[in-house]
Amino acid sequence: MFKKYQPVFLFLLILFSEQGFSQNYDNDKLPSSFHAARRQELRTKMEANSVAVIFANPVRNRSNDVDFQYSQDPNFYYLTGLTEPDAVLLIFKETQKFDSVSTQELIYIQPRNIAAESWTGKRLGVEGVKKELGFGTVLTNVQFSDIKLDFTKFSKVYHSKLWEDVRNGKDDEGDLYSLIKIFNEKSEGAKKTKASFDFQTIMAELREIKTAEEMKVLKKAITISCDAHLDLMRCLDQEMSEYQAQALVEFGFKFNGSEYPGYPTIAGAGENTCILHYISNRKKFVNKDLIVCDAGAEYHGYTADITRTLPVSGKFTDDQKKIYSIVLNAQNAGIKACKKGNNFRDPHNEAVEVIKKGLIELGIINSPNDFMKYFFHGTSHYLGLDVHDPGSYGRLKPGQVITVEPGIYIPEGSPCDKKWWNIGIRIEDDILITEGEPDVLSGKLPKTIEEIEKMMNEPCFLKKN
Ligand code: GLY
Ligand code: MN
Ligand code: MN
Repeated sequence: MFKKYQPVFLFLLILFSEQGFSQNYDNDKLPSSFHAARRQELRTKMEANSVAVIFANPVRNRSNDVDFQYSQDPNFYYLTGLTEPDAVLLIFKETQKFDSVSTQELIYIQPRNIAAESWTGKRLGVEGVKKELGFGTVLTNVQFSDIKLDFTKFSKVYHSKLWEDVRNGKDDEGDLYSLIKIFNEKSEGAKKTKASFDFQTIMAELREIKTAEEMKVLKKAITISCDAHLDLMRCLDQEMSEYQAQALVEFGFKFNGSEYPGYPTIAGAGENTCILHYISNRKKFVNKDLIVCDAGAEYHGYTADITRTLPVSGKFTDDQKKIYSIVLNAQNAGIKACKKGNNFRDPHNEAVEVIKKGLIELGIINSPNDFMKYFFHGTSHYLGLDVHDPGSYGRLKPGQVITVEPGIYIPEGSPCDKKWWNIGIRIEDDILITEGEPDVLSGKLPKTIEEIEKMMNEPCFLKKN
């Protein structure tokens, strides 16, 4: 039956791709020149006589014939812009000569397939990867087995993670499993020069400094996230469940163009405020609880990471205010330390000092080091394509984006007055390190007690007030 319609499908596909339908889609993606420049930067950092072999992320099965939505490996995306699976990129330090071409890079990608595309969407194919992603030498993944490359001649063979559990099907000769198997076979004699750790180190050095193009996309993710958190503040009420709080922020993400949350949304109320990465979000009645909402939108690969803690009733109790003020002061002290040249740990150390002092003053701890009972995570991490982005964890440098997210969590049963039990508070913002003062990219989102209570009084778009 399909064969009969094949010419029609082909005609429509050609028509669609030729007639500029793409103008109806995202036109603010990172340009191919960005990815090419990143490949060049990687090449510059590679040692003499070396090659880097980078694989796309595996497709992961959810159940039966349904896969999880595909998410590209961040390093692969950074270097190519390709969001399709079953691909491998080779970058050479020095130009290599193959039969008819001399090149510094090769990419093997999944081929066009009209039948598959009518189920799962358009593929770029060889021509698309040349035209849209700017690669000169593009081959299909099934051609990788023909590569005439002696890996033993290189002094170093950098490579990305070699997954071992990614078989699509035993007849699929172009799946990631096959690509990795071929690489392993072809580089069998180069075991001593294979370097996965060194590859990760270079990529961390590249990715920790954001270019102007990346900042545009990341700022968009952060703006969308702030607006969604604002709607949550306006709409949250005592009748709601944790999952409805989650729905509210994620509605804002999707409605404003984010592809999906950059990590599973944390919407933990009451006792769940004290679970750092609580994601089930099934508590039904949140009444007078506090709720910790840690949620960030992903936009074209880049994710925000923002937390606000809200009183569901719209008003903090006096005891909640006391803990909240310590966390806020700790966060402000941490942000102040986000300065070029400081150590990566300085914001954490500043935040810790404020929390120690505050908990002692309230009689919650007696000895300064007991603060670790109630604040048991780091204050900062890099942010970018990954919510926990790679970086060198050395000195802070302009162009780095990090979070500042201290918290205090006092679960039931803690050795302190019962009135503090089930108070969990985290405040998290995204900070750009500059030549001067820290730039709080998520700064438009209220965080003082007064600002939050005021915002929670504003009308919600869901209701006619
Ligand atoms: N949202 C995860 C984190 O804050 O690190
Ligand atoms: Mn974070
Ligand atoms: Mn977070």
